[in-house]
Amino acid sequence: MNNNITGKTGVLGIIGWPVAHSLSPLMQNAACVALGLDYVYVPFPVAPENLRSAVDGLRVLGVAGFNVTIPHKEAIVGLLDGLTDEARLIGAVNTVKREGDRLIGHNTDAAGLIASLQGDLGFDIEGRRVLLLGAGGAARAAIVGLCRAGAASVIVANRTPEKAERFVADFRSVFSGANLALSPLDILKGDQRLKGVDLLINTTAVGLDGTTFDGLDLAPMAPCACVYDMVYTPPLTPLLAEARRNSLRFANGVGMLAAQGESAFSFWTGCEPPNGLMKSRLLAVLGSQDMLDNGLYSK
Ligand code: ATR
Repeated sequence: MNNNITGKTGVLGIIGWPVAHSLSPLMQNAACVALGLDYVYVPFPVAPENLRSAVDGLRVLGVAGFNVTIPHKEAIVGLLDGLTDEARLIGAVNTVKREGDRLIGHNTDAAGLIASLQGDLGFDIEGRRVLLLGAGGAARAAIVGLCRAGAASVIVANRTPEKAERFVADFRSVFSGANLALSPLDILKGDQRLKGVDLLINTTAVGLDGTTFDGLDLAPMAPCACVYDMVYTPPLTPLLAEARRNSLRFANGVGMLAAQGESAFSFWTGCEPPNGLMKSRLLAVLGSQDMLDNGLYSK
């Protein structure tokens, strides 16, 4: 933590509701200290009904930048002064930067996912076939990252089919180079179409606190396929346990959390955080270093 706060110290932070569980202060402050940058990163609990006044407050207080987490990522879009192309395409903002008097919204989740797939699984998306679970904000970031990185096809499976239909229709016109298709979540019940999936990604909250998908059976997946779960508590979600049972390579969302934070840090400060620092801080508090060492994150 910055122990030399002065009148010149830059303030960074995160808004969310709740926000007390956030691990971003830990990893962002660690990076500031490691690079000797005069910033401090603090949590701001903001209830949904207070979002507009909170954004106005952050603007007039001169905050240098902030992250945005649940439930504000989509609601904040209309309250900012500008958006990057990435944020506009995703329709959600997880990072805001002050530029003069203007607050610019950005999204680092798509880049964070792609960096984690590469770094944690050695998985290169180009030309690959993906099964994407969910059609909410996290899935929007995922499909933008995947299609931009050259995915050949993405099957979207969601609990509410109408939402998946709208989601696919939204992105078909943008990413004409990728084949976008729909499936019920029942595809997870040992469906033979799993044979043609190179990468399965869960963007839903299923897995949090040990919840699971009904009748989960990944046996048809090819031995070289990978499974990625954006959930990281518990570190080994039921989906990842099923991947392990089938000897598939897998990783949880810790790497994405770290990588989206690294991109946000660079966006604000113009500096690259020390390689691997954010992820190692996260693993230290999540008690997951043993799992990493024992090969549970990636075979
Ligand atoms: P986020 O920004 O985290 O993506 P979201 O926009 O609220 O959050 O989207 C949540 C996603 O998780 C949705 O795809 C949701 O499915 P529905 O469209 O059917 O609501 C999915 N989801 C949440 N809880 C789920 C559950 N218990 N089983 C299956 N899908 C679930």
